[in-house]
Amino acid sequence: MRQPEDRLVIDSQQHEDRLFPPPPEFANRARIRSMDEYRALYRQSVEKPEEFWAERARELVWTKPFDRVLEWQSPHAQWFVGGQLNASFNCLDRHVQQGRGSKPAIVWEGERGEERILTYEELLAEVSRLANALRAMKVRTGDRVGIYLPLVPEAVVAMLACARLGATHSVVFGGFSAEALRDRMEDAGAKLLITADGGFRKGQVVPLKANADEALQKLPGVERVVVVRRTGEKVPMKPGRDIYWDEAVRGQPATCESVALDAEHALFILYTSGTTGRPKGVVHATGGYLLQTALTTRWVFDLREDDVYWCTADVGWITGHSYVVYGPLAEGATVVLYEGALNHPEPNRIWDIVERRRVSILYTAPTAIRGFIKAGDDWVKQHDLSSLRLLGTVGEPINPEAWMWYRRVVGGERCPIVDTWWQTETGAIAVAPLPGATPTKPGSATLPLPGIEIEIVDSAGRPVPPGEGGTLVLSRPWPSMLRTVHNDPKRYMQQYWSQVPGRYFTGDGARIDADGYLWLMGRIDDVINVAGHRLGTAEIESALARHPVVAEAAVVGRPDELKGTGICAFVTLKEGKVASTELAAELRSHVAKEIGAIARPDDIRFADALPKTRSGKIVRRLLRDLAAGRESQGDVSTLEDLSVIAALRDSEE
Ligand code: WTA
Repeated sequence: MRQPEDRLVIDSQQHEDRLFPPPPEFANRARIRSMDEYRALYRQSVEKPEEFWAERARELVWTKPFDRVLEWQSPHAQWFVGGQLNASFNCLDRHVQQGRGSKPAIVWEGERGEERILTYEELLAEVSRLANALRAMKVRTGDRVGIYLPLVPEAVVAMLACARLGATHSVVFGGFSAEALRDRMEDAGAKLLITADGGFRKGQVVPLKANADEALQKLPGVERVVVVRRTGEKVPMKPGRDIYWDEAVRGQPATCESVALDAEHALFILYTSGTTGRPKGVVHATGGYLLQTALTTRWVFDLREDDVYWCTADVGWITGHSYVVYGPLAEGATVVLYEGALNHPEPNRIWDIVERRRVSILYTAPTAIRGFIKAGDDWVKQHDLSSLRLLGTVGEPINPEAWMWYRRVVGGERCPIVDTWWQTETGAIAVAPLPGATPTKPGSATLPLPGIEIEIVDSAGRPVPPGEGGTLVLSRPWPSMLRTVHNDPKRYMQQYWSQVPGRYFTGDGARIDADGYLWLMGRIDDVINVAGHRLGTAEIESALARHPVVAEAAVVGRPDELKGTGICAFVTLKEGKVASTELAAELRSHVAKEIGAIARPDDIRFADALPKTRSGKIVRRLLRDLAAGRESQGDVSTLEDLSVIAALRDSEE
């Protein structure tokens, strides 16, 4: 693992005095209506955590009640020990039994304008049919199933069908390459893969089945492949291995009893980027995850029966898992699902959907918001957005200007904004305003939710005074925390629990102001957030190093107006290879092919050497400064060869 020796110097120069109390009309009808209510809830959650969580957990349907709320042997937590439940039952059957059968669960729109609406009853039937089909293909409780789909209703059906049987799903974002899919399927030990003939993205066809075929060439463990017909294009089907979804479910009964699973049963594995070249398989457990995603959906989005809720994330990311699927469906919401790009064919696609579907809660990423600002207010103003009552953001820090624009132009100065901080590993939103209670400050995720305790510490693990920057850590276990890293329990310890002993290490730099509000300042490790997508710089470096002309590569993030962070790669070439614009373009495409288009570097800078310490470590701090075009403030006394910096400074294309 890389040493944090060259971490960003964290300073906190951002000041923000604007304060927006919840609009009284909103607060009066909200689930949590005042700061006093929030504080009382918070106090109970930290003073009597077991009582607090037990009381709320009893709202889920358990086939067997739990005996103990928490078993904490740091850093291993088990929640709701002895209890059994099923996530799919809690997201579907429960609502049908309570009379929500004919309520729309999913309102789907394809990029080409097609529509499909599935009520809770219909969704339950689809999930049951697929679960029966999977069982007929010998999928058993505890098996791993890969899901590599476009954002079509089948993606949700597939996740819930796995959950119904207790097969642990591992969704891989449809924008990832064959290579990335193979790595993840191999690590997960998937037995079956659910994919599609293709998907639509910005009018283009994404060749998912072709990618899957390439990935599976070297993966004999994947015995069966289920293929959704989406584009209708003819794709090769391997006899004995591949079957179309419609053929697999044909004749299967529309009922399927859900399997009672231990609360700690692994609901899913989701791969996320870390500080090494290999992504981590974050494992989430059924009971605690379902409880906390449901509760945070209720609290943070103030969800009500008649809301039309739209989280624009893809199910390939944690936001899609927690706030497209499990949280809102556990709460019985109507969820809008849209297959394509939010700005396709025109920048008003998102607002058109909001208007036509009467969306009341919109949850999206700062990058998307900055894109809409750039496209111009006119695209927004063409539409009647009066159905909106709450706006949310996630995935990266939101700059105060973008926040203010979102509030004014989209929210008509009437909708509270919830800036939600959390991670794949936290499973659920950890820090966010409660829209009917918390006064908001543009750019701050505000206060920790009940059950979450945050601290800012220095490099020695000591708490820093208010206002000072440091590392964000979480100081107690919470129900939806990750349980381990699949196949790598050591990495779980090292990555999350050894940097600040006894505390969960987030990898984020932050400060807490005098009011206790949290301000995120970006990652302090080698993870970068590009357009709200999390990428490991080491992953991109490994991809570059696999290109035959590359000797060495170092990748850093640099500020980008639109995407938050852009990707800058410093590359040295093997003896005799010559740098050129064509080669830079080739290296960019190479990374896109190896990982996916989201990882394509923005800048490639060729150099004869990279700045290293005498012990041979690349000094990333310097590269970050160079990439950002600023003079380095840092100490260069440990550098092996100072002339390297001057050469790099001149290396801009
Ligand atoms: C960043 C996405 C600032 C942060 C849910 C975190 C944020 C990483 C925010 C996790 C926010 C997420 N403000 N930064 N509201 N939300 N982040 O695992 O750096 O894809 O560690 O989970 O995104 O990314 P992940």
